[in-house]
Order: sequence, then structure tokens, then C-alpha cells
Amino acid sequence: VEATLVLVKPDGVRRNLTGEVLARIERKGYTVTGLKMVNADRALLEKHYEEHIEKPFFGALCDFMESGPIVAVRVEGNRVVEGFRSLAGETNPTAARPGTIRGDFGRDWGTVAIENIVHGSDSSLSAERELGIWFAE
Ligand code: GTP
Ligand code: MG
Repeated sequence: VEATLVLVKPDGVRRNLTGEVLARIERKGYTVTGLKMVNADRALLEKHYEEHIEKPFFGALCDFMESGPIVAVRVEGNRVVEGFRSLAGETNPTAARPGTIRGDFGRDWGTVAIENIVHGSDSSLSAERELGIWFAE
């Protein structure tokens, strides 16, 4: 069975949306098999977001992701990588469809960092890599 990494980002934790996100995952039929609260530092974020290190928004993204605790969740289910991306909705909260986590709760502040409540791995290869980073023994 497939596994994915979900992160409730600092904006989601601050706004008390952790339970809402977990409830949507569970109601969809997926299983939570790991859960912890983490204060991410730069080194962890550089590993997690290595594909974005050269992007102009990388600094703002790290500042945002370091702005408070993150809830890291290991989720299992059939085709859960694709399925959770579908629950999350598009990256930009303005474009994300109502009914999705980002569409229902994400706010477009027009600032440099896109605060969009959750992260979900984008492929099963990314999921394995990211679970190794956030759930290393
Ligand atoms: P994640 O699940 O967090 O990886 O989001 P994603 O896969 O939908 O988007 P992507 O991996 O492309 O970008 C990672 C994160 O960087 C996004 O969730 C945003 O918080 C931020 N981000 C992505 N693109 C932009 C952008 O063009 N501008 C800014 N300011 N932030 C961005
Ligand atoms: Mg991504």
C-alpha cells in the first residue's frame, strides 16, 4: 500500500486547522500511520524543498515554514499520493477549488510566501524521500 507525507504548515497549525486536515484525510478512508510536531530549521527545509533552492521565493518560503511548528503526518492508502493532492487542491489558494483544503481555508495575502495550509508529496518517489527526511529514526 502506498504512503505519502502530509505537512500541516505553520499557518494551518496557528489557525487550529490540524484536526480539520486530519479529519478530511480519515474520512476519505486513508490511514494515519505516523504523526509528530516539528520545529523545522533551515537545514531540514533545504533537504525537503531541494528542488526549489534556486527559486526566487525560496527565502520567503523558508521564513514562512520556520515561523511556527509544523505537524508532519505519514498517511497510507491506495493511490494516496494522488488522492491527497486532490484533497489539498491547487498551490495558489485563490485558484484552488472550494471543497479542497486550500480552496476552503487558504488565504491569498498577496505577500511573498504562499500560505496554503498543507504540503503533500507530489509522487511516490518524492514521498519515500520526504518520509525519510521527516520520519528518520
Ligand atoms: P507543496 O505541497 O508545499 O510542495 O506545494 P505544491 O507542490 O503545491 O507547490 P510547489 O512544490 O511548487 O511549491 C512549494 C511551496 O512553495 C508552495 O506550496 C508555496 O508555499 C511556495 N511557492 C510555490 N510557488 C511559488 C511562487 O511562485 N511564489 C511564491 N511566493 N511561493 C511559491
Ligand atoms: Mg511540492
